[in-house]
Amino acid sequence: MAALSEKEAEAYLDARPRYPIDWYKKIAARTLDHKFAWDVGTGNGQAAIGLVEHYENVVATDINEAQLKRAIKHSRISYHHTPTTISEDEMVALVGGENSVDLIVAAQAVHFFDLTTFYNVVKRVLRKEGGLIVVWVYNDIIISPEIDPIMKRLVDSTLPFRTPIMNLAFDGYKTLPFPFEAIGMGSEGKPITLDIPHKLSLKGFIGFLRSWQPAMKAKEKGVELINEDLITKFEEAWGDKNQVKDVFYKAHMIVGKFPEVKFESDQVLSQDSNKGLLLETEVGRNHKRRQPSDEGDSRQSKKQNTSEDEA
Ligand SMILES: C[S@@+](CC[C@H](N)C(=O)[O-])C[C@H]1O[C@@H](n2cnc3c(N)ncnc32)[C@H](O)[C@@H]1O
Repeated sequence: MAALSEKEAEAYLDARPRYPIDWYKKIAARTLDHKFAWDVGTGNGQAAIGLVEHYENVVATDINEAQLKRAIKHSRISYHHTPTTISEDEMVALVGGENSVDLIVAAQAVHFFDLTTFYNVVKRVLRKEGGLIVVWVYNDIIISPEIDPIMKRLVDSTLPFRTPIMNLAFDGYKTLPFPFEAIGMGSEGKPITLDIPHKLSLKGFIGFLRSWQPAMKAKEKGVELINEDLITKFEEAWGDKNQVKDVFYKAHMIVGKFPEVKFESDQVLSQDSNKGLLLETEVGRNHKRRQPSDEGDSRQSKKQNTSEDEA
């Protein structure tokens, strides 16, 4: 993500939605322990502040110092600037060490990362027993029947300027590689879709558009998509300029756990009296023992009181 200027970072703050507190509650109910969470690409700490309600300590990291300066302070959240030069080992140590993190959250952020490096670190720091990684992105904004078609035309006009990173976000993480095992809250190629309600002023909306990455990309190429003509159209469609509107962002989420080790060679023979000899793998036996839906005696499902595919 391009570094934001002080002014852009300020505008960004106005339009960022707070993620529903329900999300943290439901995700936290699925991790085995609640000692430590990592909010990676924390920005101004939107997700960190939600996580700290459920985890004893939160480490929040970002490559952008302008964003971190505005981070929401909390005694149990430690914010760290992590430049791109930081090594994998340094990152692991900073975050808390091998096999130490109960929950890793990348809110509206993973599409910016070098996924190989990030996932390498995740696989080292995520707790193998009961740890979870969750990524989410929001792309479409639903404001009103007057504004939405103008927004759609603007979104379409960004097509020539989109980078592969932006396309990951625009397609709602459907093409995001996600090498973790699904727990029933979205999976690789099949994120779940959720609404984020938010209150938005016209000023916040225009500020958001001006710091919107696809528009900034177009500007770098000499095309001002957020021009005066467009702003006038939005202003007219908004109506009363002082009106704060109830809007929705469409979000897409995937939650995963450490992949189970597949012992392909560890095949054993089991006897079925009617069908003769059947091959059964260790993986198959593990699955029979512990399906997410029949973890009735585990700490995770004791806390869980939601259906599998909601967040
Ligand atoms: C769209 S913002 C999301 C911020 C915050 N998580 C939220 O939900 O509001 C993406 C953030 O990812 C950060 N970021 C981008 N690449 C990063 C990287 N390689 N490591 C850490 N943070 C990164 C950016 O600086 C930015 O603050």
